[in-house]
Amino acid sequence: MSNQRSGLSARELFKRGEGVTYDDFTILNTTYSEIDKSDISLEAHLGRNITLRTPIVASPMDTVTSTAMCIAIALEGGIGCIHYNFKNPDGSPNIEEQIKVVEQVKRFENGFIENPVTVSPEQTIREVLESSQRNKVGKSSIDNFPVTENGEPHGKLLGLLRQQDYSRRLHTNVQVKDRMVPLDKLIMAEWPITLNQANAMLWERHLLLLPIADKKGKLKYLVTRSDLDKNDEFPLTTKDENKRLRVLFAVETRPEFAYPRLERGFASGADGCIIDTSQGFSRYEAEMIKYILQKFPDKLIIGGNISTPEAARLLAKEGLHSYRNGQGTGSICTTAGAIGISRAGAAGIYHSAKSSKMATIGDGGLRQVGDIVKTLTIGADAVMLGYMLAGTQESPGEVEIDEGTGMPIKIYRGMGSKEANVGGIRGYSRLPQGVQGNVNYKGSVHEWIPLIRDGLISAFQVMNVSSIEELHKRMYSGEIRFERRTIASLQESGVHDIKK
Ligand code: IMP
Repeated sequence: MSNQRSGLSARELFKRGEGVTYDDFTILNTTYSEIDKSDISLEAHLGRNITLRTPIVASPMDTVTSTAMCIAIALEGGIGCIHYNFKNPDGSPNIEEQIKVVEQVKRFENGFIENPVTVSPEQTIREVLESSQRNKVGKSSIDNFPVTENGEPHGKLLGLLRQQDYSRRLHTNVQVKDRMVPLDKLIMAEWPITLNQANAMLWERHLLLLPIADKKGKLKYLVTRSDLDKNDEFPLTTKDENKRLRVLFAVETRPEFAYPRLERGFASGADGCIIDTSQGFSRYEAEMIKYILQKFPDKLIIGGNISTPEAARLLAKEGLHSYRNGQGTGSICTTAGAIGISRAGAAGIYHSAKSSKMATIGDGGLRQVGDIVKTLTIGADAVMLGYMLAGTQESPGEVEIDEGTGMPIKIYRGMGSKEANVGGIRGYSRLPQGVQGNVNYKGSVHEWIPLIRDGLISAFQVMNVSSIEELHKRMYSGEIRFERRTIASLQESGVHDIKK
């Protein structure tokens, strides 16, 4: 019997000049598996010390990633990138709306909430409820409010209006001062205090909320029990040094909008940005990288999109940390047809990642968990998802009912589509490079991401690898084996011959 290995190495699979993509190959089970699932890590390093425990980035698209998605995906160990298609009524970009999302995400799971929504004693409960709606985080509105002089964010603390202090029905015209717990009855803490001390106080005094004021009695922070519970519930959470959720925001390559966006986004605590363009191998991108590196040297910069080693080499030389790999592959993408320039998703990733020191983010064309496994196996450090996160509870937009099937759906569209109308801002030509369509409603990211993780961990176990790094080493050494698929094998590997 010959000792020849089964199948092909990655090098043999991705022959020069062949547009091989996910459905064209499968990974073979050639390794004896002896690893325990609990020893498998899915950690991805994006650069600048930013590590994800779940190697998933939510794509900066206006039907995928805004406040609720950024929060949910960060809690599940990934990270979201806030899109930049917020507009004023005249169609011009509204930078502040995007920055508001950065602030909402950063405010979410604070140990110490720096900017809780505050109200004034003279406001009516109706006005408070309106403000709660405006400051809604994801689906849930805010129910508890520190009361300060004139309602100023860090004004003199006068009391606390808690959920149990007012009725949305009976007290609409009552003033806050008549329902709040006034200062003389309020349990509060004085700054400085550690998070552990604040936690201990919450438990000892049977509290759900603890306002913290400085020596002059001015509100400094709010600590809440529900935030602490969230810490327990989501052990994978992607957090910064101050225990706030990490978040990215998208910027265009046009300096007149990008510069103020960068200024405001980073001032609001964002951890990094994505230079969001379909054509990253360009002077515009190179100049933007230089600018950001020089102005914000501590922040993560993700560039792209590109799909060739030529482009990856240039961007790495400019100092980029991480890049999106994928051109013409997205589910809503018509670039290949519109301009004839694209690359098969898997081939782009293999060839570019191999010759790049930057972190590679496989972006576009991923439809099922197995595609994510393949992307990571052939060299990506993480994936970016549009389609696979569109249609979740946390993606922007309402659930609708499909007229034909009666099933729940949500809208999903390309950022280069006529409907998204990013138009001149993103530098698209008038010929759209994306479309709008519907996707099935998928439920919550909090159910979906654990399933994706489960699939990835199962695959790692079968391949007997404990980390993405090890997976890459074994792929490059030729140990991980692949096989090309025929049409018949592709049919065979899907559901077949049963009545559905
Ligand atoms: P999907 O996960 O297959 O749906 O692909 C999502 C990716 O498609 C995004 O992360 C972008 O890189 C890319 N993309 C988004 N909008 C457009 C568009 O309008 N045209 C082409 N590509 C797009």
